[in-house]
Amino acid sequence: MTLPKHVTIFEMGARDGLQNENARIATGDKVRYIDLLSRTGLKWIEATSFVSPKAIPQLADATEVFARIRKAPGVRYPVLVPNLKGYERARAAGADAIAVFTAAAERFTKRNINMTLDESLATFTDVVSTSKRDGCWVRGYVSTAFGSPFGDVVTPQMVLDVSLKLIEMGCDELSIGDTIGVGVPSQVDELVPLLAARIPLDRIAMHFHDTRGTALANVYAALLNGISKFDSSSGGLGGCPYAPGATGNVGTEDVLYMLERMGIETGVDIAKVRAASRFIAGVVDHALTSKAYQAMEAADAAPIS
Ligand code: HMG
Ligand code: MG
Repeated sequence: MTLPKHVTIFEMGARDGLQNENARIATGDKVRYIDLLSRTGLKWIEATSFVSPKAIPQLADATEVFARIRKAPGVRYPVLVPNLKGYERARAAGADAIAVFTAAAERFTKRNINMTLDESLATFTDVVSTSKRDGCWVRGYVSTAFGSPFGDVVTPQMVLDVSLKLIEMGCDELSIGDTIGVGVPSQVDELVPLLAARIPLDRIAMHFHDTRGTALANVYAALLNGISKFDSSSGGLGGCPYAPGATGNVGTEDVLYMLERMGIETGVDIAKVRAASRFIAGVVDHALTSKAYQAMEAADAAPIS
């Protein structure tokens, strides 16, 4: 297998990352964090989420965040929307790239968006057709693709079935999510070729959470299977409040470090991502989990002998 020469990073820190923070984060800090990320070379920064503020109180200020961020030329700022109401809010705020989200697992879908899988697909059929008519770019998430927190059995075929429905309804791209960080490389080896037989590889991104330390191994397995777009969050922030125990996405710095050392281009400056992470580390009430971020911080803190 040959590895891709270029990989696209889809930054998750401001949405998947911050949605999981308990302490209230000021709108101005979210804006500053995204503005710092906009200077790193990242071309895709998921900015916020137009979900119910009762479901995710942390992102209740989505309209203001989206309005205030400085949109850098050439950078897209997709936002998460769960229904037409969210879509209308997102459009009113000026969003032109959206992401809908369902899952391979029935019980998780019910807990996360209070819909059955079929109801979610019906809802998103309307959202996606409206957004395509309006000229938006649309991503479709398939969560719990490697396992569910609520005991549902998830098979690669189930992931393929949901993926095909999202593609058929008009999604430009899919993001296949290991929401609770249970996946291992052999699962990636099984799933990606199954998807690739029906869906062009350049329309598939992988979204790994690092709950059990397997995310980077899964990124490597996905690279070997021809995937060249990955979701990650600066500093390793995040998780899903509706997936008990789930921790953050694979750290952007971790992915960048590995890819750079492997000679794979991303166009993203790791030092600038670290600066954004450092800023948000001063805002959230805990340490950041990205190993590469921690190593850079430790190297700077070490006394020079
Ligand atoms: P519901 O309670 O069933 O919906 O929630 P409803 O239609 O009955 O509405 C209830 C109330 O919410 C109403 O207000 C609606 O107007 C309001 P009330 O009359 O009670 O005052 N409402 C809204 N308000 C603002 N924006 C909206 C909106 N929709 C309804 N868009 C719903 C259903 C889907 C809305 C809710 O369950 C929800 O918002 N869920 C989102 C949960 C979420 O964001 N989870 C985390 C993201 S998923 C994730 O992290 C995984 C991912 O990263 C990939 C991976 O890791 O695999 C993407
Ligand atoms: Mg996620």
